[in-house]
Amino acid sequence: MYLSTTYLGLKLPHPFMAGASPLSGDMDKVRQLEDAGASAIVLPSLFEEQINQDKKLTYHVMETFGDSYGEALSYFPDPENMKLGPHHYADHLRKVKEAVDVPVIASLNGVSDAGWLDHAKLMQGAGADALEINFYFVATDLDENGQTAEDNLMHIVQHVKQAVSIPIAVKLSPFFSSFSNIGHKLDLAGVDGLILFNRFFQPDIDIEEIEIKPTLHLSDSTELPLRLAWLGILAGRVKASLAVTGGVHTVEDAIKSIMCGADAVQMVSALLKHGPGHLRETRDGVEQWFEEHAYESLSQAKGSLSLEKAPDPAAYQRANYMRLLHSWRM
Ligand SMILES: Cc1cc2nc3c(=O)[nH]c(=O)nc-3n(C[C@H](O)[C@H](O)[C@H](O)COP(=O)(O)O)c2cc1C
Repeated sequence: MYLSTTYLGLKLPHPFMAGASPLSGDMDKVRQLEDAGASAIVLPSLFEEQINQDKKLTYHVMETFGDSYGEALSYFPDPENMKLGPHHYADHLRKVKEAVDVPVIASLNGVSDAGWLDHAKLMQGAGADALEINFYFVATDLDENGQTAEDNLMHIVQHVKQAVSIPIAVKLSPFFSSFSNIGHKLDLAGVDGLILFNRFFQPDIDIEEIEIKPTLHLSDSTELPLRLAWLGILAGRVKASLAVTGGVHTVEDAIKSIMCGADAVQMVSALLKHGPGHLRETRDGVEQWFEEHAYESLSQAKGSLSLEKAPDPAAYQRANYMRLLHSWRM
């Protein structure tokens, strides 16, 4: 059984990789992920706020020298060479690249098109094999319409595409009026991969303290079906590779993702819960299942239940929704 796949133009022995998380921010864990057979490693994101914060910090430090600023400046290294967030990030990236043989994917996380994206070049220079752009946007402005948010996203993507020659993937939330159209537009813009979906971290309410509590729960398999639906809708209809992130915990979850069209399967919560070794167990379990069911290669299974190929494409459409509601028995 050949599990090999191509993701972002990278030839990988199998689709299972570690998604962006603190695991890949730690060198010991990075080695454990490679030992567990991860086919690629996605680094945690460098956030737009981190970069802008650092810029402000540099400015503030220089400002505090007041009149002696000119002289003080000569004692300062060039801000570009200072140990700012992006440079720490690039150092970590270089170390990871030296430590492992698998592709290493850097990640930028932000929503504006304000200069920070030039850091994509830094990541490329530090050896990133590909770059994820995580567009984590929360639309709170009453006057900002959907088109503006989409234009923003397209600007960011075009900007990064111009800056680097390595493949880029965009990690998205499902909250667009027409996700199919967004996928199509990004594909036309030359994006190499789409990653479905960002988890939208929702606040909880502490009713005793009467305050909003930021919460970060690890996922479980119930988050997967939303991803399966949109993987299935896009598979075979865009040139970009498709990756699933969110809710892949078991062998079954991974098989479903592949059948709906995933070229790559990213895992985070399951690895945080069970340790990096869970990645190998999942990979081996998938291989065994496919062998038992007489598949010869991953490509045979990939997308076999997509909208394009499924025996019953209506399962993805409105008709199925109505059928489902009408079939409910008390
Ligand atoms: C603790 C933690 C940190 C994360 N950090 C990042 C990050 O830096 N960048 C990013 O794009 N996603 C980040 N994610 C999201 C994961 O990459 C992944 O998309 C999400 O957890 C859904 O996958 P899962 O169900 O396998 O956990 C993080 C998730 C967790 C739980």
